[in-house]
Amino acid sequence: MAAEKSQKHLKLQTIVQKPDSGNSVYEPCQCIQPSDPCIIIVFGASGDLTARKVMPALYKLFLNNFMPQEFAILGCARTRLSDAQFRENMKSILTDMQTMPPNAWNKFASRLYYQSIVYDDIATFNNLSDRLDILTQKYKTSGNKLFYLAVPPFLYETIATMIGRAGLSTEADPDKNWSRIVVEKPFGSNLQTSTALNNTLQQSFKEHQIYRIDHYLAKETVQNILVFRFANAIFEPLWSRQYIEYVDICAAETLGIEHRAGYYEKAGVLRDMFQNHIMQLLSLIAMEPPAKFASEMVHDEKAKVFRSLLPFDATTTEKNIVLGQYAAGTLNGNKVPAYRNEPGVDPQSLTPTYAMMKIFIDNWRWQGVPFYLMSGKRLKEKLTRIVVQFKDVPHSVFSTIISETISANRLTFVIQPNEKISLTFQAKNPGSTVCLRSMNMEFHYDGTAEQTLDAYEKVLIDCMNGDQMLFLRQDSEELCWSFFTPLIEDCEACINREKNLCFYEAGTEGPRQAKKIKNR
Ligand code: BG6
Repeated sequence: MAAEKSQKHLKLQTIVQKPDSGNSVYEPCQCIQPSDPCIIIVFGASGDLTARKVMPALYKLFLNNFMPQEFAILGCARTRLSDAQFRENMKSILTDMQTMPPNAWNKFASRLYYQSIVYDDIATFNNLSDRLDILTQKYKTSGNKLFYLAVPPFLYETIATMIGRAGLSTEADPDKNWSRIVVEKPFGSNLQTSTALNNTLQQSFKEHQIYRIDHYLAKETVQNILVFRFANAIFEPLWSRQYIEYVDICAAETLGIEHRAGYYEKAGVLRDMFQNHIMQLLSLIAMEPPAKFASEMVHDEKAKVFRSLLPFDATTTEKNIVLGQYAAGTLNGNKVPAYRNEPGVDPQSLTPTYAMMKIFIDNWRWQGVPFYLMSGKRLKEKLTRIVVQFKDVPHSVFSTIISETISANRLTFVIQPNEKISLTFQAKNPGSTVCLRSMNMEFHYDGTAEQTLDAYEKVLIDCMNGDQMLFLRQDSEELCWSFFTPLIEDCEACINREKNLCFYEAGTEGPRQAKKIKNR
């Protein structure tokens, strides 16, 4: 209840659409009410995530007047720095940003502070607490605190515990003075470690205070899935096994593992992309309508989908999943190395960088409908897309006059790039005889792309406003792990592991064996 109570909904301007003007013009939905005054404490303030994502997002929010009237940002890390040095460091990062209006930086910088911290030393957290008291007085932030853990995951439990021990996670009244913690994936590496992490977080914070980020949920096109499904009456009656042949979810990447061998070697594609991002996409497509568009109710419906996933068993695993690893190849005209030759990767590595699987949702709506899930690195193109393939017409009345079969309708959500929603349908070609052709009805995001919030900006606004809709709830997180953990363990323990790993040339569509999954 506290979660629902403390949730403050953003006031949104309605999208202005001019349907008669040929090209539609959209004004983006803007948050017009900044959150309560607060202090944002960024752990890992001298690290890469802070520099690349968190600080640029905060600065952009500031430039666009989305930050609260009164706020302070307190960077924390092991490095010893003064406030002035921290401000200089942040300035050097942010000067790359194109928008640097005169005076804006000085104003923003005056709200930046730094406190050095030793993550396992309670004394330094007590110092942090004293510092927060001073800033709270200065900016009248009523004790509202947002702890952002931009640190390696092995530090999550230590930091959360220390915050709790220093008394900083306590909320006297969640509506008046809140304390929230933000963590990014990976949330553990299997069901056991994820449960352990959740237990530790919950010793200091209640569930309504914990914000587990999945950046896919903050993508505009992903947020649009529920609006598309539940704000239109015409699709929902067709949204079931009666009319849908299959659903295909793909997240193809051209990137390799970059410099993340240490993490990726242990994670592999199933932990890195499937247990989280792909499962979230699946839940949005498969869930039942929530009674209201409220965070807890949406999370309840997602959890039901995860509970209904039909587990793999020994007889189905091999038939329904293909794992692959990229070999050397060419991408955009450039030669790229094999995964095994990436810096830091074991030359004998059996870590999968690609997976294609067929899964089923064991419930009334989706009985027998295959969901094909695919993700891989170093593929031909970057494309995240969901296809809802409808069934063929039950009977072709045109069979006497045209020889070809009629293509079934297909609804496609392109999540990135070139974000769009398209629906194919059949139309008659103009002319004296009856010839059919597939046409597309499309909605493009082009007009709004520049103005929309980037994923980190959206995440930060929602945290400050106490809106958990786009974050992961503990039960869903663990349900996804309980589906994937046995599968990952099976794959990792399989005696034929090496034989079962399909190597694919970088820059291609992935292993050819994956095609068989759809034909089975
Ligand atoms: C991250 C994964 O969560 O998502 C990366 O750890 C992956 O391996 C990335 O590249 C993909 O995100 P996006 O937004 O580029 O599709």
